[in-house]
Amino acid sequence: MDKELIIVLDFGGQYNQLIARRVREAGVYCEVHPYTMTVEELKAKNPRGIILTGGPNSVYDPASPHTTRELFEMGIPVLGICYGAQLMAYTLGGKVSTAPVSEYGKTEVDIDDKDGIFKGVSDRTIAWMSHTDYIENMPEGFVRTAHTPVCPVAAMENREAGLYAVQFHPEVTHSEEGFKMLSNFVYGPCGCSGDWKMDSFVEETIENIRRQVGDGKVLCGLSGGVDSSVAAVLMSKAVGKQLTCVFVDHGLLRKNEGDEVEAVFGPEGDYDLNFIRVNAQQRFYDRLAGVTEPEKKRKIIGEEFIRVFEEEAKKIGAVDFLVQGTIYPDVIESGLGKSAVIKSHHNVGGLPDHVEFKEIIEPLRMLFKDEVRKAGLELGIPEYLVFRQPFPGPGLGVRIVGEVTAEKVKIVQDADAIYREEIAKAGLDKEISQYFAALTNMRSVGVMGDFRTYDYAVALRAVTTSDFMTAESAHLPWDVLETVTSRIVNEVDHVNRVFYDCTGKPPGTIEFE
Ligand code: XMP
Repeated sequence: MDKELIIVLDFGGQYNQLIARRVREAGVYCEVHPYTMTVEELKAKNPRGIILTGGPNSVYDPASPHTTRELFEMGIPVLGICYGAQLMAYTLGGKVSTAPVSEYGKTEVDIDDKDGIFKGVSDRTIAWMSHTDYIENMPEGFVRTAHTPVCPVAAMENREAGLYAVQFHPEVTHSEEGFKMLSNFVYGPCGCSGDWKMDSFVEETIENIRRQVGDGKVLCGLSGGVDSSVAAVLMSKAVGKQLTCVFVDHGLLRKNEGDEVEAVFGPEGDYDLNFIRVNAQQRFYDRLAGVTEPEKKRKIIGEEFIRVFEEEAKKIGAVDFLVQGTIYPDVIESGLGKSAVIKSHHNVGGLPDHVEFKEIIEPLRMLFKDEVRKAGLELGIPEYLVFRQPFPGPGLGVRIVGEVTAEKVKIVQDADAIYREEIAKAGLDKEISQYFAALTNMRSVGVMGDFRTYDYAVALRAVTTSDFMTAESAHLPWDVLETVTSRIVNEVDHVNRVFYDCTGKPPGTIEFE
């Protein structure tokens, strides 16, 4: 039997990933596709239901993204959300116009009919609104199922045709009973039973990889980060020694990180794979000598990384597949969202030009970060790897302001290790999204014992954020900062001052360069 699938068609709204995530939380597999997906392509995927997302446009503007009547006549249940709801009304002959006033934020919605997706929902519920247009007249065959003082039709349904529309956003948690509504849609009209679970994803993916790879050779770049580790373990469970993982130690990793990665994935580790560690530290330091400009540093690290990887790959010879740890937000950000530019500099190096391979495998392409972590746990990867905080590809290269030298790397590694240890000791590690020590290029006068010092200042950073696009500086307890400061100046040579960075993002970035 076919796996249950819900397809979200993306009309450019900001909550589109959330919709997919909620549907999966309800136990049904869900993929987001651009709204341009054709009816034939949709049919070929055989979804149980389709959800049309919100979007910033007006349906009566000819330049806005539209869809065809056919989409609503395939016999597949459709739920339109916000712009998606208006699009359904408009396409099927209803009237959409500018509302007398916009509704924004938490709004009381009166439910008029509970035979469809509002089953079990309160008579008056709080839902999240964000619209300037509204449905003035419903198309034929629809009944109104909810309203607000502003919206005569805050929701409508044509149950016979399997069509459902809500003006508000059930996917955000501000909509208090939104999850129930989405669950009602997938379990009711779509007839899903909820077969999506992480263990079945893992098993299925392993089987699919086996089928796809056959007896081919696979190459994987392993960074020790969550995504590439989970991808590598999935591959190793599927094809064992047909997989070679190349781990480039660029000398800009956190303290002991290279050895930790080797301990897990190397010959003494837990997995069946070929592991190659390339100790390229000196090469990177040589190329970075004298370079102070941040973008130039990033570029050098990215290019050198690819070069080292390619050289190793050449030694292995032609491979059939190259594994990438791409996860779902990367796909969205590079494909549809406007954050493409922000993200592109994050993917260190990009794809190697000179590695011979036939196909790319991206086993995590459909997963969100928290799902990748769940898969990691399911696969038995050590927790400290699974719950690692984000670490940028250029590593400490962007946490050392100005020129990178081996000496400075050692300073920042030691300071950072102390900071992380104390944060964990204080039980704060789960509350803070990202925290690390950086090395400023400032040196200043201090006094140590009877001696005058002229040494570096370390900056401590800790931020809380939900999406890493914006962030707040974390309010760390003073005693923790005090302990960290005193340990750093006492235990790390060449540091005589410690600063705490109180800047949010914007105007600061999380990293220093
Ligand atoms: P910024 O410094 O731009 O960082 O506020 C936002 C998030 O992205 C991470 N980051 C990177 N990740 N390669 C990556 O894989 C990079 O080049 C890179 N630069 C920044 C950063 O750690 C933070 O989580």
